[in-house]
Amino acid sequence: YDPETPQYSTGDPTSFAYISARERWPVIITQGIDDVHRSAWATQDEEVLKEGKWIVSELARLKYELQHDREITPLPDDGREDVEGYNKELKALGNPRWHSVPWLYSECYLYRRISSIFQQTQKWKSYDLFARQKMSTFRSSRPAVLELAARYKDIVTGFESEHTIKGAKTQEELEEAEKILFIEMCEICLWGNATDLSLLTNLSYEDIQKLQGSEARKASEKNIVVNDLGKAFAVLTSAQHSGKKERRVDIVLDNAGFELFVDLILAGYLLAAGLAATVVLHPKTIPWFVSDVLPQDFASLISALADPQAFYSALSDDDKQAGKTPTPLSNAEVSNLSFLFGHWSRIHAEGQLVLRPNMFWTEGGSYWRLPKTAPSLYEDLKESELVIFKGDLNYRKLTADAAWPTTTPFSEAIGPMGPASGVRILALRTCKADVVVGLLEGEDERIKATEGGGEDSGARKWAWSGKWAVVQFSDGKA
Ligand code: F6P
Ligand code: MG
Repeated sequence: YDPETPQYSTGDPTSFAYISARERWPVIITQGIDDVHRSAWATQDEEVLKEGKWIVSELARLKYELQHDREITPLPDDGREDVEGYNKELKALGNPRWHSVPWLYSECYLYRRISSIFQQTQKWKSYDLFARQKMSTFRSSRPAVLELAARYKDIVTGFESEHTIKGAKTQEELEEAEKILFIEMCEICLWGNATDLSLLTNLSYEDIQKLQGSEARKASEKNIVVNDLGKAFAVLTSAQHSGKKERRVDIVLDNAGFELFVDLILAGYLLAAGLAATVVLHPKTIPWFVSDVLPQDFASLISALADPQAFYSALSDDDKQAGKTPTPLSNAEVSNLSFLFGHWSRIHAEGQLVLRPNMFWTEGGSYWRLPKTAPSLYEDLKESELVIFKGDLNYRKLTADAAWPTTTPFSEAIGPMGPASGVRILALRTCKADVVVGLLEGEDERIKATEGGGEDSGARKWAWSGKWAVVQFSDGKA
């Protein structure tokens, strides 16, 4: 169930895969080693320390194999069901080396292999080596978080008390306003993805903050190369007008921290606006691509909001060293954040906001395989009015990370998840990898010719940095 079009490979010097394998992954492993080192040496428990040392040595071994372009070794049997699938595929690929292997498989393998190291211990099984990074970038998103919290409170109270949007007088105005608001909410949710941690090896906190404010969002609209939000809105409103009670929207999550925060903003808005009756969130089950959401990240976010003053008065080590003191939140800011906390806790407790993990999301293959290899998940997704796939990796998996011509229609590039799948899909993706489909003739060339776009280097550099985005819809009909 894979396409015939070849996939991007770490051996192709014009692909972002090449740089990823050689430059980014070793840095990510090193950061992981530092994190485990910190936790291991902070403990009084002999066994934890002993296992911590072993984890560090295994991570160092993995880094060595990667940097010296060794053969990728089969995963050890760590008791999880997906080992066999990973190892079968490795064999089918002909026991490849790190520097010349399909990008998608090898990058998934990397995180699965890291997870297997922790799985083999007693004391570190549920440890997330990326948790520290995730929470500290969330803390540094404070300005955008406060701005959005204020906006969210306004919108949701508007819907709850007056069942309307402020200022809309006629039915037509109301519908137009609803559509604009939907688009804004989705675009917030889209750009929240521009700041994932696996790319942070080269972004400063200031850069992140600039990326997140509303000014930045307006300026970025011209960077959404394809924008199908109107189609997605039409699907949700027609379900709403049909009088159907069980209307569900799914979000296949990407990153924790600020991105999860904006995903919850979108989810809460969809529920308050009546565009969905339930929102199902799909997190990962093992630490994944550095910043992806685990169920415990959801819990950490909610508990940060439970006492926001305490959360924001804790300083990062860097800030402490720089002699900074925390600025307390104002009363209004605390009240806006408490409103968020209250609303999210309530919709979660009432079962309108559901978390539904599945091991399929961390397998090594693309979503072309979903209908065959994860049939119950497939049936489940068909029940949804709209399945929103967040972020770059989900997009790569939808399109099988294959080197499609950029004018290939989106619904064709997603294969079995496209026409006749019965699944309505909306991809919200800031581009951080080579694969891009659904463009108009000449568009790729036009953007390539912009500054840093890649020009005639043979590389699609414009699609690597998160500066450009695509929002694409497939209706899943025959
Ligand atoms: O392109 C860099 C990269 O790390 C890819 O390897 C991966 O697909 C993606 O970014 C992760 O980004 P996201 O969190 O948006 O899926
Ligand atoms: Mg991610």
